[in-house]
Amino acid sequence: MRRKFVAGNWKMNTLRQTAVELAGAIAKAIPAAVPKVQVAVCPPCPYLEAVKGAIAGSGVELGAQNAYHEQPGAFTGEIAVAMLGDVGCAWVILGHSERRAILGETDELICRKVAASLRGGLQVILCVGETLAQRQANQTEAVLDSQMAGSLAGIDAAAMDKIVIAYEPVWAIGTGVTATTEQAQSAHAHLRRWLASRYNPQIAAATRILYGGSVKPDNAGSLLGQPDVDGALVGGASLKAADFLAIVRAGESVASV
Ligand code: 13P
Repeated sequence: MRRKFVAGNWKMNTLRQTAVELAGAIAKAIPAAVPKVQVAVCPPCPYLEAVKGAIAGSGVELGAQNAYHEQPGAFTGEIAVAMLGDVGCAWVILGHSERRAILGETDELICRKVAASLRGGLQVILCVGETLAQRQANQTEAVLDSQMAGSLAGIDAAAMDKIVIAYEPVWAIGTGVTATTEQAQSAHAHLRRWLASRYNPQIAAATRILYGGSVKPDNAGSLLGQPDVDGALVGGASLKAADFLAIVRAGESVASV
């Protein structure tokens, strides 16, 4: 069975104090004993260490929002996988649409980052998703196929238990427009079929696929109740402890493990 997973992508938000307060409030509600829903928070890099302190002793795991694929060295402004592990990250988000669209990240670069993160012992939340224009042109599945193939080129089946996929339709991110449960389920089922054909049916059945894009307390239950939706990657609503925890609780209420 796939354990539900709710991760908060704080993006470029919070300052040190708000980050620590937010993390502390979440940690207080998530006990260390293996929670029914796996929970992670992904704060901005400067606050990773402070947030690690705030979640110590809880069931909340730590993730980063990006990593560079090269070994430590002369790469001004970049952050090595080893550094993220060193400050306590278990996870890294890669391939987010904001990095693809605003920072120009390609599938090829994302794939290098995936490989480097896995080599460095991090687990990866790999984001894929189509734009509104692509959806309207009926290209959703083709776009997902090519992002998956490009971002996972050379990544073998043995590594797939360290990778979670996040389906984030670009048109639903930060817009308040959420994919319908049918749209989410259909895209997730498609991604699972892709995993079955690229890898095998066991990998397809075991790999978790999160939905991201305007997940809120009031829509989380129906989204996470879909058979192929294994959790959520939450942006805006992850910045309020009460909302984020309500999404975790919604996940618990539909979780079968
Ligand atoms: P919102 O939840 O703010 O739409 O953001 C989703 C997202 O991009 C998570 O990575």
